[in-house]
Amino acid sequence: MSLPNKVKIVEVGPRDGLQNESLTVPAEIKIKLIEMLADAGLPVVESGAFVSPKWVPQMATSADVFQQVNKAAGVSYPMLVPNLKGLELAIAAGVREIALFAATSETFSQKNTHCSIAQSIDRFNQVIDEAQANDLKIRGYISCVLGCPYEGKVSLDTVSMLAQKLHDKGCYEISLGDTIGVGTAGLAQDMVEQVSRHVPVTQLAAHFHDTYGQALANIHAVLQCGVAVFDSSVAGLGGCPYAKGATGNVATEDVVYMLDGMAIETGIDMDKLLDAGSYISDFLGREPVSRAATALLRKRAG
Ligand code: HMG
Ligand code: MG
Repeated sequence: MSLPNKVKIVEVGPRDGLQNESLTVPAEIKIKLIEMLADAGLPVVESGAFVSPKWVPQMATSADVFQQVNKAAGVSYPMLVPNLKGLELAIAAGVREIALFAATSETFSQKNTHCSIAQSIDRFNQVIDEAQANDLKIRGYISCVLGCPYEGKVSLDTVSMLAQKLHDKGCYEISLGDTIGVGTAGLAQDMVEQVSRHVPVTQLAAHFHDTYGQALANIHAVLQCGVAVFDSSVAGLGGCPYAKGATGNVATEDVVYMLDGMAIETGIDMDKLLDAGSYISDFLGREPVSRAATALLRKRAG
């Protein structure tokens, strides 16, 4: 299969990146970050989550963040929603796009959302019905597609089953999450090839955490299978509160650097992206977890 000449990058830093951060990030910092990311050319900036503030306190300001962000024309600002209560809060805040999530392992599903896989399917079906009745756009996530922190190896049949259900019910895109970053290139290709027998590859996205340093290689591998949508976090922010030791998503700067080098268009301005990464890294008091950002910022400093 020939490589795409264009790729969509879904920036998940303000949600996936910050949800596990121990330092409380005030709403105004998140708002500025989201605005800088949109200004850098990211077409989708996942901006928060309507999840239980008891379990994920960092996302408690999501309604304020969403409402106060200056929305750029043509940019989507999806919000993560786990259940009908989250949907109700999202609708009240004026959200136009939501992201739902399910997981391939029973233990992860219980830890992350306090329900079995079968209950999660009932839950997302109810949320999708209600979201469609309110004309919302719906994206779906599947976690632990290449391994689970509790159960180890996962079934690719379960990944395909969940992907097909989310797709058939009306999610416009299914993001396949290697939550703990254990996957390697061949396994990532096998997984995408299997799932794309059930959901068109044009409606699949890949969401690689970089815990084992495999994310860029995995992106390169699944590009060859036709995947042309990738989730990433500016400055490599992130982790999952229910996947101990999982590091951030692949850094947006690293993905853009690789794709620029391959002459694959993303529409992202690297200089502005570096500014956004520096802004949040300065606030958090650490260097960006991105090799490309570190090298380019060093070069910029002269
Ligand atoms: P629960 O405690 O079982 O919920 O949580 P419940 O229905 O029993 O309700 C208990 C209380 O929570 C009630 O309040 C509800 O109103 C409230 P009380 O009566 O005690 O005052 N509640 C809520 N409050 C705010 N927002 C809500 C909500 N729902 C109930 N939506 C629940 C179940 C699903 C809510 C909880 O487990 C939860 O919030 N889980 C989300 C965990 C999370 O955010 N995980 C990280 C995101 S997923 C991820 O990172 C993976 C991804 O990046 C892909 C990848 O990398 O694999 C997407
Ligand atoms: Mg994630």
